[in-house]
Amino acid sequence: MVARGRAFRYGKPHSQMTGLKGGAMDQDQKKQQVGEAATAFIKPRLTNRSIVGVGTGSTANCFIDALADHRQLFDGAVASSEASADRLASHGIPVYDLNTVDEIEFYVDGADEIDGSNHMIKGGGGALTREKILASVAKQFVCIIDDSKRVRQLGHYPLPVEVIPMARSAVARSLVGLGGRPVLRENFVTDNGNVILDVFDLLISSPVELEAEINHLTGVLTNGLFARRKADVVMVGTERGPLVE
Ligand code: 5RP
Repeated sequence: MVARGRAFRYGKPHSQMTGLKGGAMDQDQKKQQVGEAATAFIKPRLTNRSIVGVGTGSTANCFIDALADHRQLFDGAVASSEASADRLASHGIPVYDLNTVDEIEFYVDGADEIDGSNHMIKGGGGALTREKILASVAKQFVCIIDDSKRVRQLGHYPLPVEVIPMARSAVARSLVGLGGRPVLRENFVTDNGNVILDVFDLLISSPVELEAEINHLTGVLTNGLFARRKADVVMVGTERGPLVE
């Protein structure tokens, strides 16, 4: 899947990341690699008026940390979660309310799974609704992943669905009707005050259609399929260095 990408253009080659020629790279190092690569990718296009859209999760955290080194090149950020907002603020990066922002050139975020058409499952961190809002507004969605996230077909990772609490059981029954096995995410409340149903056993052969179908269930705020608004650029952390696809 990654073979058609271009290696090394936006980041350090593998030997510089591991310090060892030929040394094995773990998943965290690959996340760090793409966090830095995404920063290098957007850096030439930043101006002192730029607002960067920032995702949520461990890969997005690597991006935030790399971006912080170039704080003087842009105005600030809009975050897809309270956690990312806190991390940005801890670096001294101003965090704006989306309602006060005219334009977001780039939205940079990770994914739980991504297929060959750049359709994704997201929401492992529970921030899917705000992530989808930022993705819908941004001109370019830059997805940053380690190479374990590329899949042939979506659905091995359980699909997160954010649900208004009082509709939890009704929505769960509907999801069973679609062939899934919804499981309530224990001890978890989203930044929007809702619950998450993680749906196992869905064979997702038509992501665009399934995304719409689940979103139309009454009580669903959004689901973690990002197929209607998919990634524009995918940066993959690999043993050979970051690939751009
Ligand atoms: C959070 C997300 C994340 O992008 C996704 O879960 C990937 O996380 P990580 O970078 O930690 O593997 O959608 O809601």
